[in-house]
Amino acid sequence: MGQESKKIQSKSGRPFHTPVMREQVVSYFSPIKEGVIVDATFGGGGHTAALLDHLDLAVQVLGIDRDPAAIRRAPDRDRLRLVEDNFCRLDRILDDQGLDWIAGILFDLGVSSHQLDESGRGFSFRREGPLDMRMGSDTDRTAYQIVNDTQPDELTHILSSFGEERFSRRIARSIVANRPIETTVRLADVVTEAIPAATRRKGGHPARRTFQAIRLAVNEELSDLSAGLEAGLGFLRKGGICVAISYHSLEDRIVKRRFRLGEGRAPGPILPEPPPVELKDLVGKVKRPDADEVQQNPRARSARLRAVEKVK
Ligand SMILES: C[S@@+](CC[C@H](N)C(=O)[O-])C[C@H]1O[C@@H](n2cnc3c(N)ncnc32)[C@H](O)[C@@H]1O
Repeated sequence: MGQESKKIQSKSGRPFHTPVMREQVVSYFSPIKEGVIVDATFGGGGHTAALLDHLDLAVQVLGIDRDPAAIRRAPDRDRLRLVEDNFCRLDRILDDQGLDWIAGILFDLGVSSHQLDESGRGFSFRREGPLDMRMGSDTDRTAYQIVNDTQPDELTHILSSFGEERFSRRIARSIVANRPIETTVRLADVVTEAIPAATRRKGGHPARRTFQAIRLAVNEELSDLSAGLEAGLGFLRKGGICVAISYHSLEDRIVKRRFRLGEGRAPGPILPEPPPVELKDLVGKVKRPDADEVQQNPRARSARLRAVEKVK
C-alpha cells in the first residue's frame, strides 16, 4: 500500500492497534465510489484511515466504537464522523446520523491491542490487573462479578459455550473454591492449576479459553454481533459491501451462517425451501492473513475474513 496511514500511538508508545489484512479490506471496498462506509469497530482507526486514503473522495466513513478511549484518541479527519456506541444499536445510530442506507460496513471484531495492553482494563492473562474486561460502559457486569458472584452451573455454562472449554466444570469448581479472585494473573493461575498437567502444555496458554469466555459474556459480544450484522446488512444499498474479520470460531460461525443464509444457502437440511438470495459471496474460501503479516503482527494469526455484496 503506497500511502502509509499514520499510526495512532498509545501512552505506552506502542501502536494503538495494527490493522489486520488492511490491503484486502481496502480492495474489497474499492468498488464503492460514493456514500458512507461504516467502520463498526473503529479501534485505532487503521482500517478507516486506509479507506479514506485509498477510496474516492466521495466516500465518507462513519466510525463506531463502544470504547470511549478509541473515540477520544481518534484524529480529526475530513470525511470522517465518529460515534461512541455499540454497533448492536446501528439502527438508532444511523437514524441519528440521518442515514437511510449505507454503501459498506466493516466489522473487525474482538479487542484492540490497546485494550489488551492496558493492564488496568483486565483483558490479558499475562498482565496483572483488575478483573474488569468491559469494552465500554454499556455492560451490566464486570469480569469480577462473573468470576466471583455467578453460580457454579452458570459459570460452567459460560466457560463451555463462550470458550468451548472442555474442562469447564473443573475450572468453574476451582474458581468457586478459590473465591474471592481479585486479579487477572490470580485467575490465570487458578485456571492453569485446574487443567490436567498433560493438557496444559498444548494449544496456547491454558487460561486463554476461560478469558475469552468471560470477555464474551461481559460484553455480550455474540448477541451484539448477530444484531449488528443483521442491521448492517439491512441498511446496505444494492451493490453495498460487508466485510467481517473474526478471531475465533464462535464469531466466524455467526458471520458464516448469516452470509450463507443471504446467499440462499440453507443453514440446515430441513428448510422447506431455500431462503431468498440477497447477498453474493466475494471471497470463496475464507481469507486468512499471509505468513509475512502474521510474522510482523502475531495478533493477526487467527483472523478470518469474509465479504459479501448486497445484490437485492
Ligand atoms: C480489533 S479492534 C478494531 C481495530 C480497527 N479495525 C483498527 O484498524 O484499528 C475492535 C474494536 O471494536 C470495538 N468493539 C467491539 N465490539 C463492539 C461493539 N459491539 N460495538 C462497538 N464497538 C465494538 C472494540 O472496542 C475495539 O476497539
